[in-house]
Amino acid sequence: MEQPRWWQHGVLYQIYPRSCMDGDGDGVGDLRGVLSRLEYYHWLGVTALWLSPFYPSPMADFGYDVSNYTDVDPLFGTLDDFDALLAAAHRLNIKIVVDYIPNHTSDQHPWFLAARSSRQHPQRDWYIWRDPAPGGDPPNNWLSVFGGSAWQWDERTSQYFLHSFLKEQPDLNWRNPDVRQAMGEVLRFWLDRGVDGFRVDALARVIKEAALRDDPPNPAYTPGQDPYYQLLPTYSRDLPELQEVIGFLRRIVDEYDDRVVIGEVYLPLPRLIAYYEAGVHLPFNFQLLKVAWQPLIIRQVIDTYEGLLSAQQWPNWVLGNHDVSRIATRVGQDQARVAAMLLLTLRGTPTLYYGDEIGMRDVAIPPALVQDPWEKNVPGRGLGRDPERTPMQWSAERQAGFTSGTPWLPLADDFMEVNVVAQRHDPRSLLTLYRRLLKLRASAPALHNGAYAPVGSTGAAGPAGVDEQVLAYTRTGSGNQFLIVLNFSAALVPFMHAKGHGHICLSTELDREGEEVTGTLTLRANEGIIVQIA
Ligand code: GLC
Repeated sequence: MEQPRWWQHGVLYQIYPRSCMDGDGDGVGDLRGVLSRLEYYHWLGVTALWLSPFYPSPMADFGYDVSNYTDVDPLFGTLDDFDALLAAAHRLNIKIVVDYIPNHTSDQHPWFLAARSSRQHPQRDWYIWRDPAPGGDPPNNWLSVFGGSAWQWDERTSQYFLHSFLKEQPDLNWRNPDVRQAMGEVLRFWLDRGVDGFRVDALARVIKEAALRDDPPNPAYTPGQDPYYQLLPTYSRDLPELQEVIGFLRRIVDEYDDRVVIGEVYLPLPRLIAYYEAGVHLPFNFQLLKVAWQPLIIRQVIDTYEGLLSAQQWPNWVLGNHDVSRIATRVGQDQARVAAMLLLTLRGTPTLYYGDEIGMRDVAIPPALVQDPWEKNVPGRGLGRDPERTPMQWSAERQAGFTSGTPWLPLADDFMEVNVVAQRHDPRSLLTLYRRLLKLRASAPALHNGAYAPVGSTGAAGPAGVDEQVLAYTRTGSGNQFLIVLNFSAALVPFMHAKGHGHICLSTELDREGEEVTGTLTLRANEGIIVQIA
């Protein structure tokens, strides 16, 4: 078998640069800040850092509205700072993955300013313009993810332009060959600088149906839900022609050695396969962000995914990101350790979200301090993403060691206890668990490459309902077998299995290492155990 690539046996860690570390005291994180914390990521044992956007931007969507794809916003530093960060990371054997935002630019990007200047401008067609429907309405019924119509009227040129997100984020027209060419050059710019790969933003939206037909109503929509779900995005997302665009991106990336393409694709598992086939190495699998935190349901998700993937398609798992409520809030603090063990023992590449390793929780943001445009556009529905974007809690010092100024979002109240310094020296902390899991995973090929097989509690002797409380599976490879048993309940559960004899190599409370295990393993409330089978 071919040697696994770094992005197969490694672990990704997402940094949201605004909230990682502020190097210059303005309250916003920056690239020098990240550089100053590299030692921590090295100590933790992650393989690659994915940086959310740091490009010049009016910050209408905090950097996901790019006004220049080949530079660094002064808020985050300079290209020299980026080069220094990349070089320092590589010296520590840490890879750097950057965000690539093909679906839309900022409305302040020179391309859009040109396109908007007149209907005759040669770059007009770089964006998607349409005449109004009879009566002056938008050309079709498409909705913006961030609320309202996906069309914005342009007074000067008397046409609408399309924006899948904010009106400050006009969608590029990927049917135009010049757009492809220019966006291909963006990839080359960063590849030439030495980045190890891209996380491609909003990938499924990059191509829309040419005829721009109305999206059909969603029969399952219930009032009170996110209004975006009123329609099914049949013609505005996940179109067949997208596969060819992905092939184009992948061919450019393949001109360079050993780089990775990761796709942000919020689609059901069977649809991810098309993205693998088109050339995305890792189409993000977001199932753990969505499904109920119940063993039977999660087992079903794992089985479905494992069943869909071919031998060449590499799985991946995500527990958190900058767009969703944090794991410790979603599943509760008691289950945060079980979640960590699950993420880091499943087959496939895990992605960690900054701060989850110390158990950071969503921070309630007072209305006057709300930053996220989504919350501002569609208020009061819990759609805002500020709660999961608060500053990293480094220490119990002033402003959690994040900034000498005033942080752009408020810090969590609990940062005096929940911080890196406090947990780094505590042999039982969540952070220590993450580090131990990462170390074990790195040293045991069975845990990154090994086959996955579900394990049920054995026979009638097992107490009723164990499989509703416990998720268990083996990972087998390179002459080793691990049994992972995760208790999702707050009860003591005896778990009987037929996997034979072994010893505990890690437990979520970090207090059972070395314990011998035979047919029955007794799990404490919310406990997870990794057994090495003899
Ligand atoms: C992606 C990003 C999100 C951003 C949106 C528009 O979903 O993860 O943060 O707002 O794209 O670029």
